[in-house]
Amino acid sequence: MILLRYKKAHEKIAMGLLSYMPGEKSVKKLQETMQQYETDEQSQLFLLKDHDDYIGVIGIELEDDAYTVKHLSVNPSYRGEGIGTAMVSKLHELFPDLECRSTEQTERFMKKCMEKEGAD
Ligand SMILES: CC(C)(COP(=O)(O)OP(=O)(O)OC[C@H]1O[C@@H](n2cnc3c(N)ncnc32)[C@H](O)[C@@H]1OP(=O)(O)O)[C@@H](O)C(=O)NCCC(=O)NCCS
Repeated sequence: MILLRYKKAHEKIAMGLLSYMPGEKSVKKLQETMQQYETDEQSQLFLLKDHDDYIGVIGIELEDDAYTVKHLSVNPSYRGEGIGTAMVSKLHELFPDLECRSTEQTERFMKKCMEKEGAD
């Protein structure tokens, strides 16, 4: 599995995955979110590719010394297999020197990931 930076060619699959986020139910909101990831250099979206399938998405906002995980979603067919946790840890590997923060929406799952990392 590899984490790939979002490209315009991934737009439809990325929108589909993002739509599982609780705050992204309306098409209008989803389009605004995509627009932000496409235009704002500090907002970065990544897709997790497994063989030929894109099975997860993770979106962050970069700051000087930290990044905030704003969106995190896994295709329902692949949940409960450690994919969400794997995406969070791949992101850590990309930005090892930055502090990882979460939003109200991603906080509970992110905390769980940190506990798992701590336990390893
Ligand atoms: C949250 C999400 C990304 C987890 O992906 P996943 O690949 O199933 O996660 P993992 O397999 O790595 O971890 C599963 C564990 O996380 C727990 N979990 C799932 N969603 C959770 C949540 N919102 N908060 C806290 N824990 C959560 C599961 O109960 C499971 O716990 P266990 O290991 O004790 O059995 C996935 O459920 C999803 O896409 N949800 C819809 C999008 C969403 O709600 N995003 C906001 C939260 S990040």
